[in-house]
Parts: sequence; structure tokens; C-alpha cells
Amino acid sequence: MRTFAPEQSPEIVYFSSVSENTHRFVERLNRTAARIPLNVKTEPMIEVSRPYVLVVPTYGGGNRRHAVPKQVIAFLNNPTNRSLLRGVITSGNTNFGEDYCIAGPIIASKCGVPEMYRFELLGTRDDVERVTQGLDKYWQEHPR
Ligand SMILES: Cc1cc2nc3c(=O)[nH]c(=O)nc-3n(C[C@H](O)[C@H](O)[C@H](O)COP(=O)(O)O)c2cc1C
Repeated sequence: MRTFAPEQSPEIVYFSSVSENTHRFVERLNRTAARIPLNVKTEPMIEVSRPYVLVVPTYGGGNRRHAVPKQVIAFLNNPTNRSLLRGVITSGNTNFGEDYCIAGPIIASKCGVPEMYRFELLGTRDDVERVTQGLDKYWQEHPR
């Protein structure tokens, strides 16, 4: 298990597959962030120690039961990680129609947190700007 001392616990936890769209989006936010391992069998799972926001791509491909990546489910199955989750930001591809970003509402309702934002693929400059402002405001109102 990879644990974080409170002063090092990231503001953002995210998952990103080999296509790394989400990784590139998170990099552009310029905030402390930790990536959920792609291979949960060979890489250590992470455990946070302060409140954070989850950024997650949708992977159902038409099957809602698989919309939330299994690595993210494993991360959230840890009670500490689950209790410190404050909100979810979701990505997806509008080609998936009704299932666009469906991982967001699934996690939000299961964990009782708001879905804070949605963006497509890599996100645009506007998305980066809005998420930056949104997170600034949120942490101001809810200090970590
Ligand atoms: C197999 C597969 C299934 C996907 N299923 C969905 C989906 O159900 N809904 C959606 O909005 N996007 C879906 N997407 C799009 C991804 O969420 C999108 O490409 C995302 O940017 C991938 O992030 P990543 O590169 O960080 O892994 C799917 C992509 C793949 C490859």
C-alpha cells in the first residue's frame, strides 16, 4: 500500500488508462495529484489521508456495470479512501450517447458525493479553467 503523510496527501486522485487522456487533463490542472495504478496486482494501491476529488474516465462501452474502472472500485473499497472523497469529476466520449460520463453519477450516488464536472476526452482549455475555478472555490468553502 502506498500511503501519504497528511501534508503530502494529494488534492486529486485519478485513473487513466494507457491512452492517458485523463492523465493529460490532470497535468494541466497543476495541482497535487496521485494516479490509481493501472495494474492493481503488480503495483501498490494508494491510500490518501486528506480530502480529495476523484477524476475518472468512463469505461462501460455500453455496459453500465463496467462503467467505473475496476481499479477505481478497488481504490474506493478502502474505507479511508471512500470517507475522504468529496466529489467526482468525470470524463467520457459523447459518442457513447446516453452512457456519456455515466461513471460519474454511479460513483456520486454510491458514495453520496456530488458529481462536480464532466469533460470530454482530453478536455478543452475552458474545461481546465472551469475546474480550476471550481476547485479553488470548493476548497475555500471546505478547507481540507
Ligand atoms: C473500451 C472503452 C469503453 C468506453 N466507454 C465509455 C462510456 O461508456 N461512456 C463514455 O462517456 N465514454 C466511454 N469511453 C471513452 C473514455 O472514457 C475516454 O476515451 C476517456 O478519455 C479515456 O480516458 P483515459 O485515456 O485517461 O483512460 C470508453 C472508451 C473505451 C476505450
